[in-house]
Amino acid sequence: MLEHLFSPVTINGMTLKNRAVMPPMGTGYGNADGTASERLMHYLAARARGGAGLIITEICAPDPRGKGFPNELGAWSDDLIPSLGKISAAVHREGAKVALQLHHAGRETFAAAAGGLPEAPSAIPSAILGQPCEAMSLARIAELVAAFARAAARAKEAGFDTVELHGAHGYLLNQFLSPFSNQREDAYGGSEENRSRFVLETLQAVRAAVGPAFPVLIRISGDELIRGGYDLDFTRRLAPQLVAAGADAIHVSVGVYSTPGNLSIASMDTATGFNLFRARAIREAAGVPVIGVGRIQRPADADRAIAAGDADLISFGRQHLADPDFISKTLAGREEDIRWCVACNQGCIERLSFEMRSTTCTFNPECGQEYRGAAAAVTGAPRLWVIGAGPAGLAAALASRERGFAVEIFEKATVPGGQLQPASRPPHKQPFMDWVHWAVRQLEKRGVRLHYNEEMRAEILRRDRPDAVILASGASPVVAKIPGIDGPKVCDARDVLMGKIAPAAPAVVLGAGYVGMETADYLVARGIDVVLLEMQPAHPVGKLTAHAYWLHRRIREGRGRIVLGATVTRVEKDAVFYRQGDEERRVPAALVVTAMGARPDNALEGPLVQLGISYRVVGDAVTPRRLLEAIHEGHQAGRDIQG
Ligand SMILES: Cc1cc2nc3c(=O)[nH]c(=O)nc-3n(C[C@H](O)[C@H](O)[C@H](O)COP(=O)(O)OP(=O)(O)OC[C@H]3O[C@@H](n4cnc5c(N)ncnc54)[C@H](O)[C@@H]3O)c2cc1C
Ligand SMILES: Cc1cc2nc3c(=O)[nH]c(=O)nc-3n(C[C@H](O)[C@H](O)[C@H](O)COP(=O)(O)O)c2cc1C
Ligand code: SF4
Repeated sequence: MLEHLFSPVTINGMTLKNRAVMPPMGTGYGNADGTASERLMHYLAARARGGAGLIITEICAPDPRGKGFPNELGAWSDDLIPSLGKISAAVHREGAKVALQLHHAGRETFAAAAGGLPEAPSAIPSAILGQPCEAMSLARIAELVAAFARAAARAKEAGFDTVELHGAHGYLLNQFLSPFSNQREDAYGGSEENRSRFVLETLQAVRAAVGPAFPVLIRISGDELIRGGYDLDFTRRLAPQLVAAGADAIHVSVGVYSTPGNLSIASMDTATGFNLFRARAIREAAGVPVIGVGRIQRPADADRAIAAGDADLISFGRQHLADPDFISKTLAGREEDIRWCVACNQGCIERLSFEMRSTTCTFNPECGQEYRGAAAAVTGAPRLWVIGAGPAGLAAALASRERGFAVEIFEKATVPGGQLQPASRPPHKQPFMDWVHWAVRQLEKRGVRLHYNEEMRAEILRRDRPDAVILASGASPVVAKIPGIDGPKVCDARDVLMGKIAPAAPAVVLGAGYVGMETADYLVARGIDVVLLEMQPAHPVGKLTAHAYWLHRRIREGRGRIVLGATVTRVEKDAVFYRQGDEERRVPAALVVTAMGARPDNALEGPLVQLGISYRVVGDAVTPRRLLEAIHEGHQAGRDIQG
C-alpha cells in the first residue's frame, strides 16, 4: 500500500524510513533568547511520533539580525547548541530524522524582530511590510556567509541529521536571487551569475563547514510569480549550480511575500499539488532528490506524485498541524480517523502573521497544546448534555467524553454541523464538512449519543436535570429594519447557500462581510449577476489573506460588483434603493440576499443559572465569531467543565 511514499530513501548517507516530510513551519513557540521551549519540543515530538521520515524545524536564525519574528529559534552562538540538541534528541526519540532550517529574513521582517534596521541586498522596503531596510556591504555579505556556515556546523554538533538553507519565500537568499529585490551593481547583483553568487557561496561555505558526508538541503521558490521577479527557467538553470555548490537535495516551494494569492501557503482556492510540475522541472535539471510541496494533504496523492516522477519526497505541511498522526493512521489503514486540513489558513499562518499569535489549527485545538497532556478524568460518568451539534458542540463533546463524562448531544436540526453546513457550500469550501463527518464518527465510536431533530428547552432541563451542560447553541442571522426587507424576494444568505431558495438574476447581496462575499461567490459561480451593497466605506473583507484575494478576484471576474459606503434605504418589488453620499441610487434585483451579521442564541443560559446546573457557554452562543473560536472554546470547555 502506497509503496512509493512508504519506501526508504537515502540522501548523502542519511536514510529516511519513508518519503513523507514535515516541512518547516514557524510556530512562535520559541523563547526570545533563541532557545527552544518545552512547548516546542512537545509539539515537534508529537509530529515525529506521527510517522514522517524527516522533520524539518521551523526557521532558525544564524544571525540575530535575520530574525523574522522576535522568538525565532537561534543558531548564532555556541551557547545555543545545548538547546538545539534538545530538539534533535526529542525528534530522534520518536524515530524520525531531523533537519534544522537556517534562515535570514532580509527585508521581510520588522525592526523589532531584527533588533534594528533590517538588512537586504538593496535598500528596497518589502512590498508588503513596507519596513525600511539597508543594503548590505561586501563585508557584511562575507560575515553572513560565514554565519550560515558556523550555524550549520552547530546544527551538526547538536545532533541534527541535516540542515536546510531557506532560499525560498522572498527571504534573504531568495532576495539575492531576485531581480525584483536585488538591484545591486557590484559582484552580487545585476547578471544572473552575480545574483546567484551569495546563495552559491553560502552553500559552499556550509559544505566546507560540515564536511562532505553531511546532507545539506536547500529550499527554493521555483518561481517567484511576481512581475520583475525570476521564473522557473531561471531556477532550472540554477539547480545544477546548487548541486555543484554542495546541495544534496532541493525542496521546491513557490512564491514570495508579494505573490498574488499567497501561493507559498496556498489556500483552499488552489488545487491539490498545484506546484508539483515545478518540482518535476527542477528534478530533471538537478539530478538530485527533490522534495515537492504545496497543498498535498492526502498520502495517496503524494504516492502518485512520487510514482509519476514529480518528486522523490513529499512535504505535508499544514496537514501535520491538523493531524500529527495522519501518516501512522494511513499505515494502520485508519484513514477514516484522519482529521484533514482544509487550507483555511485561519489558525496557522494567518494567526502567526496577521494576529502575531502563535500557530495552531482551526480544527485541531490540541495543536501547540501537546505539553498540557490529558485533562483530568472524572469519576462516576456524570451526565453531560451538549446543546447544539455545531462546531463548538461537537468539539466540546469530544473533549468531555475523553474525560469520562456520559455525553449526549441535542441538535434541533436534522443534521450536524450548525453553520458549517451553509459555510461549506461556497466554491472550494466543501471540504469543511470533512471535519463534521470526522467528529461525528469519533463521537459515535466513543459511544456518544447524538439526538437530531430535538430542540432543547428549559422544561426538559428542569425535568431531566443533567449534571452538566455545555451550551453551544450558536447564532442566528439578523436583518436591519429597512422598509420592504420582509418582501417576497428577500431571503437570508444561508437559505441561498443551502439551496432552499433558487438563485435568480440579477441578485443584490446586502453586506460584504465573509458571509455576503461567499454567497456572492456562490451566485457568480452559477452565472448570476451580483451587486454587493456594503455600508462600510472600506472592504470588510480585505484582500490581504489568500482566500480573500481569490474571493475578490472570482467575484470581479464573474462581473460581480461591490459598492462601498452604500446605506440601503428601501427594498421594492424589483429593485433595491441605497444612499451613497448625498445621492440615492437604484439597483435592479430579482433576488435580495441579506448577510448582515448574527446574534447569539443563548436563551437557555437563564434557566441553567436558575436550576444551578454546572454549565459553560461556548462558540457563537457567546458572541458570533469564527470556527476557530467555536472549536477551541468548545474543546476547552470540555476539558474544564465540572460534573
Ligand atoms: C455562510 C457562512 C460561512 C462561514 N464561513 C466561515 C469560515 O470560512 N470560517 C470561519 O471561521 N467561520 C465561518 N463561518 C462562521 C462559523 O460557521 C461559525 O462561527 C460557527 O459555525 C459557530 O459554531 P457554533 O457551534 O458556536 O454555532 P453554530 O454553528 O451556529 O451551531 C449551533 C447549533 O446549535 C443548534 N441549536 C441551537 N439552539 C438549539 C436548541 N435549543 N436545541 C438544540 N439545538 C440547538 C443549531 O441548530 C446549530 O446546529 C461562516 C458562517 C456562515 C453562515
Ligand atoms: C504556520 C506556517 C508557518 C510556516 N513557516 C515556514 C518556515 O518557517 N519556513 C519555511 O520554509 N516555510 C514555512 N511555511 C511554509 C510550509 O513549509 C509549506 O511550504 C507550506 O505550508 C505549503 O505546504 P502545505 O500546503 O503542505 O501546507 C510555513 C507554513 C505555515 C502554515
Ligand atoms: S488552520 Fe486551516 S490551514 Fe491551518 S492547518 Fe488547520 S485546517 Fe489547515
